[in-house]
Amino acid sequence: MILAPTPEHLEEAGKALREGRLVVLPTETVYGLAANALDADAVRRVFEAKGRPPDHPLIVHVASLDAARGVSSRFPSSAAFLGAKFWPGPLSVVVPRADVVPDATTGGLATVAIRVPAHPVCLAVLRAAGVPLAMPSANRFGRLSATRAQDVDPDIVTAAAMLIDGGPGRYGIESTVVDCTVEPPRILRPGAVARSDVEAAIGELGAGSAPERRSPGMHPAHYAPRARLRLVDRLDGRPGLALRSLAGEGQIQMPDDPGAYAALLYRALHELDRLGLPEAFVEEPPSTPDWEAVRDRLRRAAHG
Ligand code: TXA
Ligand code: MG
Repeated sequence: MILAPTPEHLEEAGKALREGRLVVLPTETVYGLAANALDADAVRRVFEAKGRPPDHPLIVHVASLDAARGVSSRFPSSAAFLGAKFWPGPLSVVVPRADVVPDATTGGLATVAIRVPAHPVCLAVLRAAGVPLAMPSANRFGRLSATRAQDVDPDIVTAAAMLIDGGPGRYGIESTVVDCTVEPPRILRPGAVARSDVEAAIGELGAGSAPERRSPGMHPAHYAPRARLRLVDRLDGRPGLALRSLAGEGQIQMPDDPGAYAALLYRALHELDRLGLPEAFVEEPPSTPDWEAVRDRLRRAAHG
């Protein structure tokens, strides 16, 4: 059931979540499949709906920095600085978890990832629910995230009590995940907040040696469209970045600004899926730091 974000529907969504049901919510990054983060049964239904392995931890979404402290047992100063600077917004901090957070939510880890989302609909539902929300991207495991209500997998919508349509995500790719349990902190997943902005806030970050080990959700193959996606140095013809098939049909021209590109990326990959092309080509974006998150998603989408 896809619903408009009326005050009544936001209240209903909050109530459904409090009762242990699942709700698909808009965020400023991608749509999320939400459940009460403190209810292990509800969280297990999220893993089931996504087909996600149980050891892949979820991000806990809360309405404020204070609420974030409530789901952690220790809130390092780096996390406090990052929260003060970027929340509400597309950055998640990994900190030691509080006992109230069940193993199901963190995949058994002693840490928990937390963020305060900026989307007004998401924030309103968080307040209406009155509980922290575990919310992975609203896609089947390994598939494309959705930045628009119509791109959310129908099976995910069916598993939820409702989907609230909040329009397209402004950033279009997932939050930046920063591990604040180590000193200096380091980025486990590049995302909507650029590394340079994180470093401007808390100083130089540690080198990301093996994020796959610390962050089990970071599979090399992820965010994949059905078409076999190939990264190429250059596509002939029109300038700028393009997604297209070998025969040239279904060419999707992409913006040459990294933020604007990110905002359209999943939508473009869903479009490729709808075209049913067996294979598609995408130009490798510039190797400069501002393209880090887009490069990361494209490499994963093209893996294998
Ligand atoms: O923008 C976002 O972050 C979206 C929206 C819905 O908020 N959510 C999202 O969730 O992308 P998900 O489940 O698709 O990705 C969660 C990421 C994974 O890479 C996972 O490994 C990492 O966060 N993560 C979660 N908890 C962690 C923890 N305790 N330690 C290390 N990494 C963690
Ligand atoms: Mg995801």
